Amino acid sequence: MTKTIIANWKMALSLAKSLDLLKKFKVELESLPTKHRLVVCPDFLSLGYLAALKGEQRTFPFFLGAQTAGHLQFGALTGEIASANLKKIGLTYLILGHSDRRQVGETNDLIKEKMLISLKNKLRPIICLGEEKKQSRAKTNLFIEKQLTEIFLKLTNSDLKKIIIAYEPVWAIGSQQACSPQQAKQVHGLIKDFFRQKYQTAPAVVYGGSVNGHNASRFLSQENIDGLLVGGASLSWSQFKKIIN
Ligand code: PGA
Repeated sequence: MTKTIIANWKMALSLAKSLDLLKKFKVELESLPTKHRLVVCPDFLSLGYLAALKGEQRTFPFFLGAQTAGHLQFGALTGEIASANLKKIGLTYLILGHSDRRQVGETNDLIKEKMLISLKNKLRPIICLGEEKKQSRAKTNLFIEKQLTEIFLKLTNSDLKKIIIAYEPVWAIGSQQACSPQQAKQVHGLIKDFFRQKYQTAPAVVYGGSVNGHNASRFLSQENIDGLLVGGASLSWSQFKKIIN
């Protein structure tokens, strides 16, 4: 079954390394396509560079996404970037509410506004959520339900088709301690039930947090896990190749 695999490069690479890695992904995937839907989210400077390319150089065997955007259409938001401009340069996806962003103050309310403006601009938002620390299943469920209730109000069915939810337990991100595939499956089920009860349909839900070439297939084989959000292991083609294969 086709899954969505998202590479989040964060701010990990120099511009030169990021462009080299994009070229590597392009060349390798053109010669050996994958059945999965791939989304690569480099930093803004790399995206700007790609936007300036012409013709064939500008086509990629994967979708491009950004890692955040502002909550207004345009306006006085120093240092922010407009969803409308990201759409204009050919992006399809937009990660929102990543725990790195929540750590510098993003709230569920702000993430909701960013999601609405990204939908208005026809970008597909990938909304991250997840509990901060390891805790009982009941506490985790309550925490996730609160995040869902605060962010996903008043959506249309067509919005829901565009949204992807990324379940990323914060304690599992960058820690080499992925959560168990069983826990991910249970939380993904909870997320899907939340939407089915409210909207009769559920968006795709992907798992993120210390995914690598060894554990990826254990997540991808679970019911309700529609793909992966990969940080560290997406920074090397050899690692990423193991994940998508
Ligand atoms: P990780 O990061 O795969 O390095 O844990 C995931 C993420 O931050 O989205």
